[in-house]
Amino acid sequence: MERYDAIVLGAGAAGMWCAAVAGQRGARVLLVDHNAEAGRKILISGGGRCNFTNIHTAPDRFLSANPHFAKSALARYTPADFVALVDAHGIAWHEKTLGQLFCDGSARQVVAMLLAECERGGVTLRLGQTLGEVAHRDGAFVVTLPGGDALAPALVIATGGPSIPKIGATGFAYDLARRFGLKVVEPRPALVPLTLGGDETLFRELSGVAAPVEARAGKAAFREAALFTHRGLSGPAILQASSYWRHGEAVGIDFLPERGDGWLIEAKARQPRATLRRTLGEALPERLAGVLADRLEAPEGPLAGCTDRALAAIEARLADWRFHPNGSEGFAKAEVTAGGIATAGLSSRSMEATRVPGLYAIGEAVDVTGWLGGYNFQWAWASGHAAGVAI
Ligand code: FDA
Repeated sequence: MERYDAIVLGAGAAGMWCAAVAGQRGARVLLVDHNAEAGRKILISGGGRCNFTNIHTAPDRFLSANPHFAKSALARYTPADFVALVDAHGIAWHEKTLGQLFCDGSARQVVAMLLAECERGGVTLRLGQTLGEVAHRDGAFVVTLPGGDALAPALVIATGGPSIPKIGATGFAYDLARRFGLKVVEPRPALVPLTLGGDETLFRELSGVAAPVEARAGKAAFREAALFTHRGLSGPAILQASSYWRHGEAVGIDFLPERGDGWLIEAKARQPRATLRRTLGEALPERLAGVLADRLEAPEGPLAGCTDRALAAIEARLADWRFHPNGSEGFAKAEVTAGGIATAGLSSRSMEATRVPGLYAIGEAVDVTGWLGGYNFQWAWASGHAAGVAI
């Protein structure tokens, strides 16, 4: 039986950082993963460049049954703290847009940095390990591993959520949490493309067309690009909205969010002989304008022949076009999992289970889900740090 101060399950973003922090504070830490390589999700993140944080990180950019839960950890480990770490490792980075920080080079640099930090903390890393039984006896956790059992008074669940199973993502965290009496908020795919069916399949002919829009779901609204795909809707605005979307609800799209009220009536005054189709074609990608004009059953004659009332009605539809997704592309394509281990059973300061001393849950496994744009990694770093300091 090998003895440690802490066993961290999952060598992803949160697990590696938690293990490194705890190790550097003097704890003997075992970090275990079933993948043969650490940080596989980091490697594919941000198109291979890892959008490792967002300088606009704030609690309102996260979804959770308890919106206050993330505040403490996020305040105690900030984007600036992580940037200082990245800088100390000489990793060049740039701000792309909307506060998103990416590596200039490769996401591999972030994984190498985390592994180096683990090494500095004397962390024992075991990859390619199929986890066996996890028992809790006499105040200690015993994890059965292929090479023999490991025992520690602290156990950290850092095995993430089930999005992208083909790279080793599982719902293991939820099963384990439930076994220890923790509740799980129904996990669902988030930051995920939405699919269209029924008479909306017509929009599939626009596959590949993108436009800057405002996408709305629930009470959330995102002004970014939307992309039509051969299955439905994607692009940053849709991915963001998907986290707030629930089955059966509509997604509202403002196709012309920059245009003020009355723009079509003004267009009529300026170019009375232009058709609506042409006017839309000047404001939107041509193929999109064509499909929208067809769906609107737009009058074919000049704008001068349209009443202001009719033009105002068309404007209103373009400002709140209702799509009714019949689903999403699921965990196979979801960038994150919303829901997860209920925060009600965890300390917001340490991530420790309030009823099971020594048990911690961090990262995506927990019911805290960030917007697109580096927020999910910032949560992984912040929650990993909170637990790493507490162990
Ligand atoms: P993570 O999934 O990173 O790690 C969990 C670890 O547990 C994995 O190593 C896994 O192998 C292991 N594991 C799972 N089940 C196990 C089991 N049964 N036994 C043993 N080990 C097990 N976020 C962001 O902020 N910026 C970005 O640029 C991106 N880009 C991005 C792209 C793509 C394609 C995806 C899928 C996701 C992103 N994300 C992102 C989201 C981000 O990658 C994600 O939120 C974090 O990696 C979560 O970190 P965790 O450590 O919690 O889980």
